[in-house]
Amino acid sequence: MAANPLKVVILAAGKSTRMKSATPKVLHKVAGLPMLRWVLDQALSMNPQQVVVVVGHESVRVRKAFDGMPQVVFVTQEPQQGTGHAVMQARQHLSGFDGDVAVLCGDVPLTRHETLAALLAAHAGHSATVLTTRLEKPGSYGRIVRDSAGRVGAIVEAKDLKPGQAEIREINSGTYIFHAPSLLACLDLLTTNNAQGEYYLTDVIHHLAAQGKPVAAHLCPDSREVLGINTRVDLAQCDVVARARVTEDLMLDGVTILDPANTYIEAGVTIGRDTTVYPFSAIHAGVEIGQHCEIGPFAHLRAGTKLGHHCKVGAFVETKNAVYGDGSKSGHLAYLGDVTLGKDVNIGAGSIVANYDGKQKHQTQIDDNAFIGCGTVLVAPVKVGKNAQTGANTVVPKGKDVAPDTVVAGIPARVLKTRQPKAT
Ligand code: UD1
Ligand code: MG
Repeated sequence: MAANPLKVVILAAGKSTRMKSATPKVLHKVAGLPMLRWVLDQALSMNPQQVVVVVGHESVRVRKAFDGMPQVVFVTQEPQQGTGHAVMQARQHLSGFDGDVAVLCGDVPLTRHETLAALLAAHAGHSATVLTTRLEKPGSYGRIVRDSAGRVGAIVEAKDLKPGQAEIREINSGTYIFHAPSLLACLDLLTTNNAQGEYYLTDVIHHLAAQGKPVAAHLCPDSREVLGINTRVDLAQCDVVARARVTEDLMLDGVTILDPANTYIEAGVTIGRDTTVYPFSAIHAGVEIGQHCEIGPFAHLRAGTKLGHHCKVGAFVETKNAVYGDGSKSGHLAYLGDVTLGKDVNIGAGSIVANYDGKQKHQTQIDDNAFIGCGTVLVAPVKVGKNAQTGANTVVPKGKDVAPDTVVAGIPARVLKTRQPKAT
């Protein structure tokens, strides 16, 4: 998509002081995915030659979370002396490069690919192009200062505003495209002579404009795309926007979500057509749900849950690493962890798969047509054969597999009789 060769630099080294957290800001999750994962996806969507991620605060944790991405290299900024200083750390990967450099902030996760494509297009013929938006309350964002002819002259940080500048509604999103040699030359001109005593990347814009180089601003009409996350209040706002996108995409793909605002669905969930999700359900990243399923109300589908078609996970049912064959149902009040259900399995109300013995997790298998009576506890590891049945309040001890076509009941489970195969 880029006319010129492109590299991307992602700034992710900041101390995250305002998050007040032991976890680096860029590892905090937005709709279930680490903030930096969203920004890396943006970067890769621009089809760059290379992505340089500047890390610093808790860098080992950040690097480890994104190991093994071929186009991505990490550089360390230590100590963290501002966004301009952060870009200086990527110099080894930019010197001699005559293409463009996109600079993205690791704490601005929601910019759409289409917006970045438009920014790149707007950049043609400029030495720098900054992505901006208009806000009623510009708060702590840097302001875009234009000259009388409307040309971008500088970005002024909120803490450095001069009288009159606080009213400026156009703000810096923290996303820019620079012509690489122009950027590198201006990094040498940065000083820490400002309210925060830092090397501001934003001052590069001022230097370029002062040198008479063409600087442009590209306005993002939807300001929600450029929300920056500095506090946990910002994080919650971004999460709402990100999840609204997820539910909207699912609905447009044929999923009924009765009350999207009261349904928590993370990014990276797949749901088939004609499935209905009732309110107050939580569905975590990576969960896969087939067609014609019923979820909730108040269902909690955790990582590793995979449902076939025509399945049900009803009220107050929690699943984790649970695989359901087509037609399998757990209607009410159950916990299913580390379990594989065949087809048309029925899990009665109040049943528990006890997967954890205090030290380790164990696996349970429940085969086709099995009927698990209300209040059954299956102590893992254990298997329930095809068409087997457990009576109400049965406890099946670990390793005491239930044979196919048998009915068991009691504590511990004893065989009562043979179960007639279900008429097909
Ligand atoms: C920055 C911009 C501001 C813009 C806003 C958009 C500057 C000086 N200000 O302010 O104009 O409106 O983003 O969200 O650039 N970082 C480093 N190393 C550092 C400092 C920061 O890598 O030494 C990283 C942070 O991890 C973060 C990003 O750079 O991902 C932005 O830093 P932050 O401190 O959040 O800047 P803002 O105050 O938001
Ligand atoms: Mg920020």
